[in-house]
Amino acid sequence: MILVTGGAGFIGANFVIDWLAATGEPVVNLDKLTYAGNLGNLAPLEGDARHVFVRGDIGDPALVPQLLATHRPRAVVNFAAESHVDRSIHGPAAFIETNVAATFRLLESVRGYCAALDGAARERFRFLQVSTDEVYGSLGPQDPAFSETTAYAPNSPYSASKAASDHLVRAWHHTYGLPALTTNCSNNYGPRQFPEKLIPLMIVNALAGKPLPVYGDGANVRDWLYVGDHCGAIRAVLERGRPGEVYNVGGGAEMRNIDVVKAICATLARLAPGRDYAAQIEFVRDRPGHDRRYAIDARKIGRELGWSPAETFATGLERTVRWYLDNAQWLASVQSGDYQRWIAQQYATSPAAAD
Ligand code: NAD
Ligand code: TYD
Repeated sequence: MILVTGGAGFIGANFVIDWLAATGEPVVNLDKLTYAGNLGNLAPLEGDARHVFVRGDIGDPALVPQLLATHRPRAVVNFAAESHVDRSIHGPAAFIETNVAATFRLLESVRGYCAALDGAARERFRFLQVSTDEVYGSLGPQDPAFSETTAYAPNSPYSASKAASDHLVRAWHHTYGLPALTTNCSNNYGPRQFPEKLIPLMIVNALAGKPLPVYGDGANVRDWLYVGDHCGAIRAVLERGRPGEVYNVGGGAEMRNIDVVKAICATLARLAPGRDYAAQIEFVRDRPGHDRRYAIDARKIGRELGWSPAETFATGLERTVRWYLDNAQWLASVQSGDYQRWIAQQYATSPAAAD
C-alpha cells in the first residue's frame, strides 16, 4: 500500500480516486482537513475498504511514525501543503509552518521508517514530493521554458516555502540516502478545485452573476494541465522515476489569464446559455509581486518515462465546466462562512479602472 498526504485536497483527492481505479493498491490518506481539505472530495470512495482516511498533521512526530509502522507503505506521496499564492501574501506564517517546518518533520519520520526497513523493502521504497513550477520564478516573453536545471528563484511566500521544502527533500536524499523523487508541475485545473483559484473562481462567479476579477492587465501567462494528467505523471514517476531526480510536468498549454477567462465564458455560454458571461469580466488591482509568465519544458518526463498529457486545454476545460455544473451541491458545501470571509477580504478593493 501507499501513504498519501493531503489527499482530501484538490489534486490529492483526484490522485487517490485515479490511483485506486488504475492500480487497485490500497491507500492510507493523511490529511489535516484545513479549509482546503474536504471529505466531500472523497465521496466516490465511500465504503471502499482500500481507502483508509486519517485526520492528522504531516508534522505530527508521534502520529506519522505510528501510521508508517502500522501500515508499512512502500511509498509516501506528499501533496500536503498550503497552496494559494494570494493567501500566502495575506498570511505567510501558515505556509512556513506546513510547507517548511511540517515537511521537515515528515521527512524525519519517513527517514526513521526507511532506515528500519530490510534490504529489499528499503530498495523499493520511494518518497515523492509534489511541487510546483512557481519555485523557478518568472519568465520574460521570449525566455525558454523552465527545465529541471533552471535555478530556483521563488517570488511569493508560497513559492519560497515550496522551494524550501524541495531543498529539504533534495538534502534528505543527498545526505541520508532517502529515495526521494520531486515533481515540479504547472497550474492544474479540473474537478474538486477549491473556488479560490482562477478557473473554479471564474466558473462560480460567472454562474452567480458576479464580477470576474482579472488581476492587472490579464496578460500574465500560465501553463495549464488537467489534473488527471498530473495524476498520471505522478504514477509514472513513482513507478519508473530514478531516486534523486526531478521531473518537470506541464500541459504544453500556455495561456494568458484573460484568454482563460474568455474560454470559460465561451464554454459556459454553450453549456449553460442565458447570460452574457463575458460582460461580467472586470480588471482589478494586480497581485503584489505577480509572476508574469510560467512555462514548463516537460521533455525529460516524456523522454525517460513516456508520459505526455492526454487532454488539451479545450477538452480539459469542457470536462471541468461540466463537472462544476453537475456538482452544485459540492460547490454549495465548500462556500462556507470562511470562504465568504476570504472572498470579501481578497476582492474588497475597487476595480483597477476606478482607482
Ligand atoms: P489544496 O490546497 O487543494 O490541498 C492541500 C491539502 O493538504 C488539503 O486537503 C489540506 O487539508 C492538506 N494539508 C494542509 N496542511 C496539512 C498538514 N500540515 N498536514 C496534513 N495535511 C495538510 O492543494 P492542491 O492544489 O491539491 O495542491 C496539492 C499539492 O500540489 C501542493 O503541494 C501544491 O503545492 C502542489 N501543486 C499544486 C498545483 C496547482 O495548480 N494546484 C500545481 C503544482 C503543484
Ligand atoms: P491562481 O489560480 O491563484 O494560481 P497561481 O497564482 O498559483 O498561478 O492564479 C492563476 C493566475 O490567475 C495568476 O496569474 C493570478 C490570476 N488570477 C486572477 O487574475 N484573478 C483571480 O481572481 C485569481 C484567483 C487569479
